[in-house]
Amino acid sequence: MSSEADTTSLAREERPEAEARPAEVRSRRVTLITGASGGIGADLARVFARHGHDLALVARSGDKLEALADELTAAGTPRPLVIAADLTKAGAVAEVAAVLKAAGASPGILVNNAGFGLLGEAFKLDAKEQLAIADLNIRAVMEMTLTFLPAICAAQGKILNVASVAGYFPGGPGMAAYYASKAFLLSYSRALHQELRGLGVTVSAVCPGYTATGFQMRAGINTRAALAQFPSTTALEVAEAGYKGLMAGRREIVPGFFNRLTVLLLPFLPKPLLLSIVSRLQKNRPL
Ligand SMILES: NC(=O)c1ccc[n+]([C@@H]2O[C@H](COP(=O)([O-])OP(=O)(O)OC[C@H]3O[C@@H](n4cnc5c(N)ncnc54)[C@H](OP(=O)(O)O)[C@@H]3O)[C@@H](O)[C@H]2O)c1
Repeated sequence: MSSEADTTSLAREERPEAEARPAEVRSRRVTLITGASGGIGADLARVFARHGHDLALVARSGDKLEALADELTAAGTPRPLVIAADLTKAGAVAEVAAVLKAAGASPGILVNNAGFGLLGEAFKLDAKEQLAIADLNIRAVMEMTLTFLPAICAAQGKILNVASVAGYFPGGPGMAAYYASKAFLLSYSRALHQELRGLGVTVSAVCPGYTATGFQMRAGINTRAALAQFPSTTALEVAEAGYKGLMAGRREIVPGFFNRLTVLLLPFLPKPLLLSIVSRLQKNRPL
């Protein structure tokens, strides 16, 4: 990285006429999407690409991101920047920023989509794995946001946070860290929505309910369990609703009629009842 930067400044000193080139390159404004290697993130990339956005895609699986970049390029969009990074690792966000800078790209839109959950009781699950939920679903979202906010403000851009219907519940026994992380994300998004609106920046939280993706496998959710039998949305439906809501500047977007009804009714139901229902549903027993 540093040697590349040094070479660039040297070249500029030697050839002042080359000044125009970096300025031109620097103008590449991208939509930066985390967790784009599969599920909702990959469909968000497809939807943004269809609407003419130049993309930068982040996830750990560089090979899957390259395959998606191939697909989008074949469909006629500029080749997305591919950044393989594990966002739970210290320094990963700085790495993403460095790759963007080296490519002369700057995010006008940030989509914080990468996230995961774990089914099981907190006292039984591996502590390190549970802490990784906080690292990815909370810490990485904050660090991405704070790192790229100056660029997004300058562009009067947008932030889309992929939260969850889980964020509206009083708690998630059987998936405690995940529900809490999404409640954080929803709260954080609402606050930033209010703080940044005066600067021409909109922040939206899209809150999906059950959506069949790689999420269930990673979380250990039995797809034959009661939890999985409620009306669900597809990843593409979530991505399309998220895109539409973001562009309309909406604070919260809940895709799917069943999910909207759930969110509408939750404030009227007693917390002990809700906690007991969630606890039963998260038992993961096949119907
Ligand atoms: N599916 C649902 O029912 C549902 C419901 C509500 C909310 N959500 C939320 O939707 C978002 C997307 O989830 P999904 O359903 O699409 O699940 P998914 O198919 O498992 O996708 C998760 C994405 O996050 C990436 N990711 C995971 N760990 C990462 C890490 N340490 N660093 C960087 N990227 C990482 C994954 O790529 P790599 O593995 O290549 O890193 C993948 O691209 C999550 O925030 C999730 O909480 C999902």
